[in-house]
Amino acid sequence: MSSPKAIAYFLSLLSIIFSLQKAHAADPLGYSCLSPNNFTSGSPYELNLIKLIGRLYLKTPPIGYGEASVGRHPDQTYGLGLCRGDISSWACLDCLTKAGPEALKLCPGTKGAVIWYDECMVKYMDQDFFGQIDTSVAVYLWNGNNVSAPLGLFNQKSYELLGQLADEASMGPKRYASGHTEVGYGNDTIYGLAQCTRDLSSSDCKKCLSNEINQLPNCCEGKQGGRVLGESCNVSLYQSMNPI
Ligand SMILES: *[C@@H]1O[C@H](CO)[C@@H](O)[C@H](O)[C@H]1NC(C)=O
Ligand SMILES: *[C@@H]1O[C@H](CO)[C@@H](O)[C@H](O)[C@H]1NC(C)=O
Ligand SMILES: *[C@@H]1O[C@H](CO)[C@@H](O)[C@H](O)[C@H]1NC(C)=O
Ligand SMILES: *[C@@H]1O[C@H](CO)[C@@H](O)[C@H](O)[C@H]1NC(C)=O
Repeated sequence: MSSPKAIAYFLSLLSIIFSLQKAHAADPLGYSCLSPNNFTSGSPYELNLIKLIGRLYLKTPPIGYGEASVGRHPDQTYGLGLCRGDISSWACLDCLTKAGPEALKLCPGTKGAVIWYDECMVKYMDQDFFGQIDTSVAVYLWNGNNVSAPLGLFNQKSYELLGQLADEASMGPKRYASGHTEVGYGNDTIYGLAQCTRDLSSSDCKKCLSNEINQLPNCCEGKQGGRVLGESCNVSLYQSMNPI
């Protein structure tokens, strides 16, 4: 698999420590305007896109994942909504209702876009992209603090954990796994998360996650929190100190 052609965003020194429980996030974690093709206001493509986003509100929350397609070539649009594997239907709907409109706003007139929030992602395109690994865009997020555990050990434990989570996520129907491992003297814990879009086969999910894991050194090695968000999958790591 090729490495990403474009690295969309480097958001360093997040003011909020990366946390899987981060509650309110008005701003997306990242986004990318994908298609080179444009539409104009009031065009059939725009109407289809608005309909598509509405369908994703209905289809995604009940199971945390939804796909839809609206219209006919050349105005056909394809989209998916995905929520993080551990959130409720309500939180999922809440996230989608900001993600869809925000993508339209951030990528005006662009036929394709992807946007990531802490709790969901939305992607749409003027081509059928279902079932394909897309690694063309990656968003790196990291926390500026260094890990306290010895780096060698931290890395070893982190990659072990992520390898297990990648296996678990790719085997499960939700294509999602989270877990933790102890590091150092047992007073540090590393939390990890791995997730793929559910249109990927098991083996493609695994491939996608391995590719993201291999990118962690580009952004996040030795950092207390690191994430690689992709169009088809993503991984996160966070080290936290246990109260003794
Ligand atoms: C779409 O719009 C952008 C910005 O206006 C322009 O640079 C680009 O060439 C357009 N793309 C196509 C395929 O016309
Ligand atoms: C990636 O992670 C974000 C944030 O945790 C989540 O909202 C999104 O659904 C995930 N996307 C994929 C493809 O796993
Ligand atoms: C983290 O470690 C790097 C390399 O050792 C160092 O340059 C940097 O100042 C450290 N950052 C913090 C926040 O401690
Ligand atoms: C963990 O425990 C060791 C040994 O007691 C200590 O040296 C280290 O500073 C502790 N780390 C943290 C993050 O508390």
